[in-house]
Amino acid sequence: MKTTVTDRTTAYDEVGQGFPLVLIHGFPLNRSIWKPQLDVLAKYAHVIAPDLRGFGESEMVGDPILMSTYADDIRELLDTLGINEPATIAGHSMGGYVALEYLNRYPAHVEGLILINTKMTPDTIQGKEGRDRNIALAKQKGASAIAEAMLPKMFSPKTYTSRPDLVAQLKAIMEQASVPALVAALGAMKERQDYTGVVLEFGPPTLILTGADDQLIPPSESEAIRLGSRNGTLVMIPDGGHVASMEQPELFNQEVIQYLPLLREE
Ligand code: MLT
Repeated sequence: MKTTVTDRTTAYDEVGQGFPLVLIHGFPLNRSIWKPQLDVLAKYAHVIAPDLRGFGESEMVGDPILMSTYADDIRELLDTLGINEPATIAGHSMGGYVALEYLNRYPAHVEGLILINTKMTPDTIQGKEGRDRNIALAKQKGASAIAEAMLPKMFSPKTYTSRPDLVAQLKAIMEQASVPALVAALGAMKERQDYTGVVLEFGPPTLILTGADDQLIPPSESEAIRLGSRNGTLVMIPDGGHVASMEQPELFNQEVIQYLPLLREE
C-alpha cells in the first residue's frame, strides 16, 4: 500500500485489526523483511510496517535526514491512517533507534516497546568514522558494496550454510537500497543521540529481542538495554543473528505474541 504523507509517497503494509503494532525495519533493508511476521501477527494486532523514507518503495526527499525525520514520518503516517491511540512500536536495529526517537518525541503515542537487535547508546568516535567510510563507499560503489560489506555479519554463522536461500534473499533486499537513502541513513545514525534516558523513563513492559549469534550488534547491547530499563525482558533467540526475525520466525513471532497481552495487564 502507498499513501502520500506531506507530499511524499510512503509505502507500508497494513494487516490485521485491534491494537496497533508498528514494525520498523533496519539498515539497509526495507519492509519486506517482515514477511514472516505479517500474516501471523495480524491475528493479534493491527500491524503497520512502513518503508522508511528512501527505502523500499518510499520516496526519498530531504537532506539531511535525522532520526527525528524518520520518527516524524512514522507519526505522520499513523496520523494519516487515523491511528491516534498509543501503539506498540517495534524497531529492528536502525529501526530500534527510530523507535526510541519516536518514544522520545511522542511518549503519549507509545503503549509498548519492542527493541530488536539494537542498542540505546550513540555511535562512538570510531563508529562515526565508520559511518563516514560507509558514506564514501556508498557514493563511490553503490548499494552492492554496502551489501557485500555487511552481508557476512547479518546472520548467525549457521544460517550461511543451512539457509543459502535466505542469504540470497537478504542480499537482494540490501542491493535494492538507493545511494541517497543509504547516505541519509548513515548520516542519521551517525548523529543520533543517546537514548539511555529514554529507555529508563519508559514504564510499561519492554520486550528486548536479539539473536544469540548477532555479529553486528552484540547481544551485550541488548543486555545493557535490559539493565537500563524499568520493566524490560530480554529474550535471546537461539541460532539467530542480526536478522533473527527472518532466521527464526516462529520463535520470534511467539515472543511478540506473548508480549502483547502483557501491556493490557498493567
Ligand atoms: C542496522 O542493521 O540497522 C544498522 O546496521 C545498525 C547500525 O549500523 O548501527
